[in-house]
Amino acid sequence: MAIVRVGFLELWVRDLERSLEFYEGLLGFRLEHREGHSAYLRGYEELEWSLKLTEAPMAAVRALGFKVDAEEGLEALMAWAEAEGLPHRLEADWGRPKVLRVQDPFGYPLAFYFRAEKLPRVLQDYHLHRGPGVLRIDHLNVFSPEVAEATRYYQERLGFRLTEYTEDEEGRLWASWLHRKGNVHDIAFTNGEGPRLHHFAYWLPDPLAILKAADILAGARRTDQIERGPGRHGISNAMFLYLKDPDGHRLELYTSDYLTVDPDLPPVRWSLNDPRRQTLWGHRTPKSWFLEGSPFLDLEGRLLPTRPSRLLGIPEHVT
Ligand SMILES: [Fe+2]
Repeated sequence: MAIVRVGFLELWVRDLERSLEFYEGLLGFRLEHREGHSAYLRGYEELEWSLKLTEAPMAAVRALGFKVDAEEGLEALMAWAEAEGLPHRLEADWGRPKVLRVQDPFGYPLAFYFRAEKLPRVLQDYHLHRGPGVLRIDHLNVFSPEVAEATRYYQERLGFRLTEYTEDEEGRLWASWLHRKGNVHDIAFTNGEGPRLHHFAYWLPDPLAILKAADILAGARRTDQIERGPGRHGISNAMFLYLKDPDGHRLELYTSDYLTVDPDLPPVRWSLNDPRRQTLWGHRTPKSWFLEGSPFLDLEGRLLPTRPSRLLGIPEHVT
């Protein structure tokens, strides 16, 4: 099961024009294609689209996309879905002729693909770059009521590798960061009511680009959409800025984590009550960040019910 990296996210939004004004107009994502009620966007480094926005009656998340390394990888994932009795089906999308959608045992609507039509390379067409210069999708972070079980499953069955984790004094796992592509994560599990999406993240070229994004939102009088940051994470060491899009979907602008390709890399342990894990500089994290997330859809487009977490409460240092 050779998953290469996180590949795309598909969101349901309530007003496509309003969402495009945010993603394309303010943040500078490249709008590559529109079809029906959907728009396909990418960052400046990407050769494939990575964000699909579909206008729908409610805000939700339809698919968490992962690229695999070959057609055979898709067949292996199909065999896994069949062996586990997981809901699954093949679909085609714009530029992606074969997408295997699978609802995993925890409810997450995964989508796997190999072949993708390549878009023109614009990385060095700097005169075309807009906004803070969003480069590529970096990771997905999902709420889970069963972080320990999901972490183990993704390691053992899907080949993800653990880079960092948070646990309490009793050794209970509250959050985990797992990768395939060689930086800190492609997916992270966070304790909480789930399954829900906590956030998705795009890579920016450097910390100044993160500050530019904050300035752009401030200039546009959109500071209500800045939820947290800018700052530096303890976990991952990355610079971050968390935004809420017009539907409340949480987007992280992210840069400067580190290389994790060594197969024997020891994971980093963080104590739940260490405030440096979330912001290295010690800033407090807003309560909304621990509680708010986006619901998922099942393969039929129905809202997926959530389950409460068995680990209750939020860390002491949170306001
Ligand atoms: Fe993140």
